[in-house]
Amino acid sequence: MPDSRLDSASGQTAQPRRVLRGDLLDFTADPGFALPAESPGVRWRPDHVLLIEGERIAAIQPATESLPLEWADVPVTDHRGQLIMPGFIDTHVHCPQLDVIASYGAELLDWLNTYTFPAERRYIDPAVAHEGAERFLHALWAHGTTSAVVFPTVHKVSAEALFDQAKAHHMRLITGKVLMDRHAPEGLLDDVDQAEKDCVDLIDRFHGQDRLAFAVTVRFAPTSTPEQLTMAGRLCQAYAGTYMQTHVAENRDEVKWVASLFPTARSYLDVYDREGLIGPRAVLAHGIWLDANDRAVLKAHGAQIAHSPSSNLFLGSGLFNWLEAEREGVHVSLASDVGGGTSLSMLRNIADAYKIQALQGVRLSAWKALYTCTLGAASHLGLADEIGRLEPGCMADVVVWNVAHGPVPEHRDRIAQQNLARVLHANLHERVFAWVTMGDERNLVSTYVAGQCVHHAQSVAQATVQ
Ligand code: GUN
Ligand code: ZN
Repeated sequence: MPDSRLDSASGQTAQPRRVLRGDLLDFTADPGFALPAESPGVRWRPDHVLLIEGERIAAIQPATESLPLEWADVPVTDHRGQLIMPGFIDTHVHCPQLDVIASYGAELLDWLNTYTFPAERRYIDPAVAHEGAERFLHALWAHGTTSAVVFPTVHKVSAEALFDQAKAHHMRLITGKVLMDRHAPEGLLDDVDQAEKDCVDLIDRFHGQDRLAFAVTVRFAPTSTPEQLTMAGRLCQAYAGTYMQTHVAENRDEVKWVASLFPTARSYLDVYDREGLIGPRAVLAHGIWLDANDRAVLKAHGAQIAHSPSSNLFLGSGLFNWLEAEREGVHVSLASDVGGGTSLSMLRNIADAYKIQALQGVRLSAWKALYTCTLGAASHLGLADEIGRLEPGCMADVVVWNVAHGPVPEHRDRIAQQNLARVLHANLHERVFAWVTMGDERNLVSTYVAGQCVHHAQSVAQATVQ
């Protein structure tokens, strides 16, 4: 329980304090595609304590050192043997698509028409939007994700609902009303003028409030008229602190369709670039079918691709060439893209990312993958001072994990631990890699957002020592 007391010196109510004890894992730099044993930037602090004061991490120290005097009576939550990590950052996920996750048998364009658009129409109802937003944020936390870049629907209320829910929990959330004024069914279309007014109103009311940020949210090029794309570019230029999120070059039929809709554009990415939509705060999902020119544009702007492995496999979209993007200087983050993706678990998405790279002859280490879901995403979003690291001053968005859950992972972990006792650095990766490959939300112990416990696994008994 957090400890909230009157500070006798200042006469003010002291910030609640809590102490978590366990094995701390985070990153100080990009491990890249180096061999696991030679990867830079891996910060492993076994049996340490994390001191949380109010919303932030106050200090970190070895558990064997005595706590500062003023912390002496704060109970220590004992997670010895468990991993304590920064919460994951999902850079591309659709709130309303929890209703259609795991829908059978279609590629992107059919999938949108058959499943996704009908589900999104329901979000015109404020009650559906608010219930959906609440369910969605709780689901993120239950999967170990504490920050996200989110697509709601075309309805303004769907963005308001997400902002309201995130604000109530001091969660870092980036979203914005979806823009789409063509090629979608009735009930899912806006128009340029009203959409611009709605966006400006949402920016005024939510952008920069608490931990919220607005994203100009172009669904994808086919569902916006050229006039709407121009308006979206105008918003990005007028409100420089906002983000931009969209989809690009996900599916081959989609790419052909965009070429026919925008015959004067050099490429799919160029449809966005020539409207001023690509900047350092642009988050573009997929980018499987980009060319070297496009990658040079992304690099020049510092924009990022939200690689969505489970979605790319499930919708049969293609194999993203991460190494090529990396070599050509493109920022890459990882995303669930639920409901095209089949799990909100970033662990499951990491496991899929590994297989996508393996099919192309590339080995993705657990270090690179975990870095990408934490400090990597935070850096590309310009938020590394706030999230993605276990560092004093950062927000206490923290997740506690069991490295193994169930008889086979537990057996595998015992073997890895025996190896670990022999050669530490080479074999820590063996243990962590088995966790990310077999793990999912069942491994999760507890999730903290801004210092508050927002999810705690029912089945895990928690002990307090001291
Ligand atoms: N492209 C346009 N809309 C969507 C969507 O909702 N999901 C995915 N995966 N791709 C899209
Ligand atoms: Zn998507």
